[in-house]
Amino acid sequence: MTTTADQSLWLTALPAEPRPPLTGEHSFDVAVVGGGITGLTTALLLKRRGLSVAVLEADRVASGVSGNNTAKVTALQSTVYSQIRGRHGLGAAVDYAAASVAAVARVAELADGIDCDLRRSPAVTYAYTEEEAGDVAKELINARHAGLPVREGKNVDLPFPVHAAVWLDDQIALHPVKYLRGLAEQVDGDGSRIFEHSRVTDVSGHVVSTEDGSVTAGKIVIATHYPTLDRGLYFARLELTRAYCIAARVHAPTQALAISTGSPSWSISAHEDKLILAGQSHATGKTAVEPFRRLEDFARRHWQVEEITHRWSAQDPTAYDHLPMIGSYTPGNTTVYTATGYMKWGLTSGTFAAGLLADLVTDKPNELADRFSPHRVSLRSLPTFLRKNAEVALEMVGDRVVPADATSSENLPPGHAHVIRDGLGKTGVYRDENGQLHGVSMRCTHLGCLVRFNAAERSWDCPCHGSRFDVDGAVLEGPATRPLPRKEAR
Ligand SMILES: Cc1cc2nc3c(=O)[nH]c(=O)nc-3n(C[C@H](O)[C@H](O)[C@H](O)COP(=O)(O)OP(=O)(O)OC[C@H]3O[C@@H](n4cnc5c(N)ncnc54)[C@H](O)[C@@H]3O)c2cc1C
Ligand code: FES
Repeated sequence: MTTTADQSLWLTALPAEPRPPLTGEHSFDVAVVGGGITGLTTALLLKRRGLSVAVLEADRVASGVSGNNTAKVTALQSTVYSQIRGRHGLGAAVDYAAASVAAVARVAELADGIDCDLRRSPAVTYAYTEEEAGDVAKELINARHAGLPVREGKNVDLPFPVHAAVWLDDQIALHPVKYLRGLAEQVDGDGSRIFEHSRVTDVSGHVVSTEDGSVTAGKIVIATHYPTLDRGLYFARLELTRAYCIAARVHAPTQALAISTGSPSWSISAHEDKLILAGQSHATGKTAVEPFRRLEDFARRHWQVEEITHRWSAQDPTAYDHLPMIGSYTPGNTTVYTATGYMKWGLTSGTFAAGLLADLVTDKPNELADRFSPHRVSLRSLPTFLRKNAEVALEMVGDRVVPADATSSENLPPGHAHVIRDGLGKTGVYRDENGQLHGVSMRCTHLGCLVRFNAAERSWDCPCHGSRFDVDGAVLEGPATRPLPRKEAR
């Protein structure tokens, strides 16, 4: 009997030995904070322009969302062209398509010489139900108007009939960790360096600091996925969505890079003899009902599953107006830059973000700079912005939003959590498999919303801006940087 690994299919390819952390004081032309696809691609492009670059990675290179996804590199991305056209007009859809096509080509070019299991495959947006067919038809028109050579056809390599489908040929599937390892090897050396286990705790002027060292740089790129610096008000303009993935050994995995348009959506791809299935998205901090079981049920309903080998989850931010944010960290800032808001398509958009960031850092004009500027204002998306921030304001009055479940944890079964009233406040209590209780303050250390228990991942997640904490309060994902205080559990 085999057990399912609770980590992504890709992470086993991380090198066993980490690179050394930053110690002491150093100077480089550019400091890049974050070693995911955005940070490493930016670093490599800048190095190729003759600059010395330091990459500071809190954990391991590629261990963030870039190592926890479904590994599709495609310019056709569900119904993205309908969404962008609806919010920003045709010009924005045309720009996004051109940038995405160029990014797919850039990944192919950078992957040349890297052993990363790259294969070419069509990307397909399909209708799983009859109701979804209208959205697929709309996407066909909008993607075509945006300039993509899409085609229609229902004959998709799936073990169930689809009601409509739009295709874009010659897209890419690859092993993201092997790809990023290859990029990292090219970045490290000849005056540039990668430091792992080097969490940046402060950026002040031109100095980037960790606990044990600092880098002084002419330019700084914050490529931490969710912008971690406590400025720029990104948390008010980004919404985090969490999604779940499984890998299953099946008889004949679907090779197309397919995604359905409905809710729930079913994202499908393959790596070697394994099917990769993803979905069950929800805003971080909202409750997911047995997401892994639902994915497994779907896989078993449609494929001959021999074994579920891996399961993992991750989250990605979406800007309130549904375009990536790439540019200066704060308006007019010519030292610090960032990129975020990839809507779960960052293998493509993190790559085009890197090209734009490299141009901005080296003062090279780029016609997409205004389109993706983090400081654009979208009046058409203002209602979404106001709704989101009104919801956050409600969450901040947390006592009414999260009721207490009990007054003691005596009857709490192992593997479960609940909320107990604790004087005027509340304590989140989790009982582990050994019967031990773990108590934490439920007030998120970012801006004070009340966290909720995520049973699928045994974490406390914040519904306001997506911070996540383990059962002892340690930060799993920001914007929060401080742990939840531990509390006595009773
Ligand atoms: C379930 C799921 C499936 C997806 N599937 C796809 C897909 O098929 N195709 C696609 O294009 N996109 C996909 N995406 C999205 C894509 O993976 C991400 O958008 C992309 O990887 C983000 O890259 P990044 O470099 O910005 O972030 P990351 O890869 O998260 O890198 C950021 C790095 O910064 C580090 N860091 C954070 N804070 C600090 C600090 N203070 N100091 C130093 N380092 C720090 C982190 O440790 C991390 O390694 C998916 C997303 C999800 C959630
Ligand atoms: S209050 Fe902002 S992430 Fe929790």
